[in-house]
Amino acid sequence: MTDFMLSRRALLAGTALGLVAAATPAAARERRSQGKKRSMAAAPEAVKGNQIAYPRLVEVGPGETFDLVAEPATHAFLPGKPVPVLGYGGGYMGPAIRLKRGTTAELRLVNRLDRPTNVHWHGLLVEGEFDGGTHPGVAPGADWRARLRVDQPAATLWYHAHVHGQTTRDIHDGLAGLLLVDDASTAALGLPSTWGVDDLALVLQDRDFDATGRPVRPPLAATLGHGFRGATVIVNGTAEALAKVPTRPVRLRLLNASGARTFRLYFEDQRTFRLIGTDGGLLPEPIDLTYLPLSAGERAEILVDFAEGASPLMTGPDEHEHRSGATVTTLPDVLTQPVRVIVFDAQKDSHPAATPWATAKGPAQVPLPTALADLKRRRFELRVIETGPGDAFAAAAMPTAGATDHAAMHHGGHGAAAHEEMGHAPASPGSMAHSAHDAAGPAPRLEINGRAFAPGRIDERVAIGATEIWEIVSPEMAHPFHLHGAHFRVLSEDGGRPKLWNVGAKDTVLVENSAEILVTFARRAGEDAPYLYHCHLLEHEDGGMMGTFTVS
Ligand code: C2O
Ligand code: CU
Ligand code: CU
Repeated sequence: MTDFMLSRRALLAGTALGLVAAATPAAARERRSQGKKRSMAAAPEAVKGNQIAYPRLVEVGPGETFDLVAEPATHAFLPGKPVPVLGYGGGYMGPAIRLKRGTTAELRLVNRLDRPTNVHWHGLLVEGEFDGGTHPGVAPGADWRARLRVDQPAATLWYHAHVHGQTTRDIHDGLAGLLLVDDASTAALGLPSTWGVDDLALVLQDRDFDATGRPVRPPLAATLGHGFRGATVIVNGTAEALAKVPTRPVRLRLLNASGARTFRLYFEDQRTFRLIGTDGGLLPEPIDLTYLPLSAGERAEILVDFAEGASPLMTGPDEHEHRSGATVTTLPDVLTQPVRVIVFDAQKDSHPAATPWATAKGPAQVPLPTALADLKRRRFELRVIETGPGDAFAAAAMPTAGATDHAAMHHGGHGAAAHEEMGHAPASPGSMAHSAHDAAGPAPRLEINGRAFAPGRIDERVAIGATEIWEIVSPEMAHPFHLHGAHFRVLSEDGGRPKLWNVGAKDTVLVENSAEILVTFARRAGEDAPYLYHCHLLEHEDGGMMGTFTVS
């Protein structure tokens, strides 16, 4: 068996936070043998579930152009229930596009949809003109070429549509996919790397389905407060997901591509797994965990050892807090108890067991600047401001209640909510019938530093090459804060040390109350195509919790 060598740093930090349950390998062994005794008593059960498919892996070499075709498709989330979806290249979502560090690849977005679309490379460090985030949208039938000069460490990134006011719906419909960066030094680490065998991409989302198997969601205006959370977890577009795994260490690339849910991940048998990478790439030192939260937009790479059998990956309920003055309301999740995200069927294969545990080290972290106090600071206050009676807000957070279209119209001047739901809903494969919603009150205002997103307005100007400290503040609730065009390092959370899983290179971080991040801006973005910072809770993003910045 593989013993987990806990690094001293991870052990100390983990114990301090009470996060690593198996503090010693002996404890882990003990727990596992107990698990074995239990399972020996019961008759061996076949693992039931729906085998997931992995996205097609597409390598785009230097000088090559790959066509990313946004188009309608048919897909069955539930067995035997095919429904209309959107995606890139004929299925739900798109291929996993692999780019090599040190090369320049061209990706061409081809729009075969009946509405404008664009694409943003989330986590890829490219100039503003190719970042796609503020691209107004490629007209139906037209295309857009992005020249991507890849120069960053190996990482699991993603791409998705980013038309303002439509992102919630577009990602729900399927306009998203994985983007991988490879580099030579990572290839030498001997990590599990056979796509679909021991290197498994798992895109996690949550959905509600109607009787025909169509994913449905309430109108945007009804979910602006806390976002929509679905009662069914899907992995790579499959409900009750199952993956075959070999009985050896496997690398899971996890992406949270849901709109609002924070997945609260752990294995059913509480086994220890090894966090080897976060948004921006591999960690300098892997970290052993038994629990990992993953908020909307975040990625994590973990190693899990199936040598002694499989255990399902679980998520706990995502209850969320709303703070209003002295009143703190805990809003329940539609999931009231832990559910299985995916079950694994572990089978022996002939491949020799690699032992990547100790060697899964990424590049060393750049040392912190010595004079942090001298750095330029900016502060971003992310606000959810109630516009009506207090408890209307809580009601609006529940999936079965919310603002009516009538309410949405009255408050349609705010953000693009009304625009989306009234103007385009019929074209969407998954909009829920609006009649299901009772009047509960007006939608909240979503702002950063007192204003909602305005296309064309530049909110911040950063000097190229600058290193700054950005302080993110979340008075009402936790927000997954995301930045285009740069990666960052979390310096502090809520005034204390960063959480274990937030110590690596990041582009998205769940800010529960406040966080300080250290950002170096190395790519340029001009006024005509600025970068964005925003909440990655998609309803908040669409509702206006977003700003622009130039780097020049
Ligand atoms: Cu994943 Cu601005 O986005
Ligand atoms: Cu992004
Ligand atoms: Cu938010």
